[in-house]
Amino acid sequence: MDASTPSADDKLMAFAMRTINDIAAGYTGVMVSLGHKLGLYKALAGAGPLSAKEVATRSRCAERYVREWLNAQAASGYLGYHAVSDTYELSPEQAAVLADEDSPVFIPHAWNVPASMWFDEPQALEAFRTGRGVAWGEHHEGMACGVAAFYRNGYKASLVQQWLPALDGVVQQLEAGIEVADIGCGHGHSTLLMAQAFPRSRFSGFDTHAASIAQACRNAEAAGVGDRARFDLARATDYPDRRYGLICFFDVLHDLGDPVAAARHAAQTLAPGGTVLLVEPFANDRVEENLGTVGQLYYAGSTLICCAHAISEGGRMVLGAQAGQARLEEVFRKAGFTHFRRAAETPFNLIFEIRR
Ligand SMILES: C[S@@+](CC[C@H](N)C(=O)[O-])C[C@H]1O[C@@H](n2cnc3c(N)ncnc32)[C@H](O)[C@@H]1O
Repeated sequence: MDASTPSADDKLMAFAMRTINDIAAGYTGVMVSLGHKLGLYKALAGAGPLSAKEVATRSRCAERYVREWLNAQAASGYLGYHAVSDTYELSPEQAAVLADEDSPVFIPHAWNVPASMWFDEPQALEAFRTGRGVAWGEHHEGMACGVAAFYRNGYKASLVQQWLPALDGVVQQLEAGIEVADIGCGHGHSTLLMAQAFPRSRFSGFDTHAASIAQACRNAEAAGVGDRARFDLARATDYPDRRYGLICFFDVLHDLGDPVAAARHAAQTLAPGGTVLLVEPFANDRVEENLGTVGQLYYAGSTLICCAHAISEGGRMVLGAQAGQARLEEVFRKAGFTHFRRAAETPFNLIFEIRR
């Protein structure tokens, strides 16, 4: 055997270490949640090097716990440690990801999702054994909050600035004033961003999850756009026909038990010249093309959340969160749409323009 060829033992250790890295990442998630909820990152952000005592004082937390947390974060590469001065520091990049709630890469909320997945493990075990579905509203409440908050920052960075302008003529229509439907709007962040940007248009968010609709109504009040954004309980297949100039599906089509029926309802309620905006998790068409970090995240979320919900709705077509363009296009072609174009993409999303 060539000296450079890894032995079976080397390969075993390499794989074991890979899984230990993942366990360490799970521990780090708890540290991130504490750092966010206790204001530890905010105490560090923009402050330059600080001692553990200074971080503890600024965050009003107990110094001994804070010191250990700081060392855990330094070991994770989530902040810098200066050995000579025994101080800790967040770089601007680390602050953008960990401390700045308006940053498009702010991550702490995303840890609510795996936390809820662990919490919901008993129902996942039962679902695997029985084949039963698990509806969106059956998950721990952290799931909806985590997903909404995680996606909100991405929408804030891209929706009005990049995704809508990538659709042919849609910004001009929104500026002139059209009816817009946001299907499966969750907490309504996407709806409200559009309502804030286009005061002449009218926005209707629909969702089947009552707690999300209630939260979306509160968010609309807080955003001061209650006059042009409304939220109602409705399914993707029965929301009222208001002759929409734009119908949006943000990260929801693949969750539906019958996506073709939803696309058909969109076709029936779209105004002449109207557009469907479909935003889906980034995915290629073939499994072997999705086997990286994004696929690792989305396939796991899809197993417990997206497929489970689609099955709970009857599961006529369970797309999963890694459906890929070809299968998504097939859904809309079956519903009678003739135009389907990839308008934009990010490492996490595919954005499609669809017309009849
Ligand atoms: C992954 S979340 C996305 C929420 C929101 N669009 C966002 O991007 O933050 C999926 C949403 O679809 C909603 N939903 C699931 N099935 C639905 C259906 N049949 N009709 C309407 N909404 C549905 C869920 O309640 C949930 O709020």
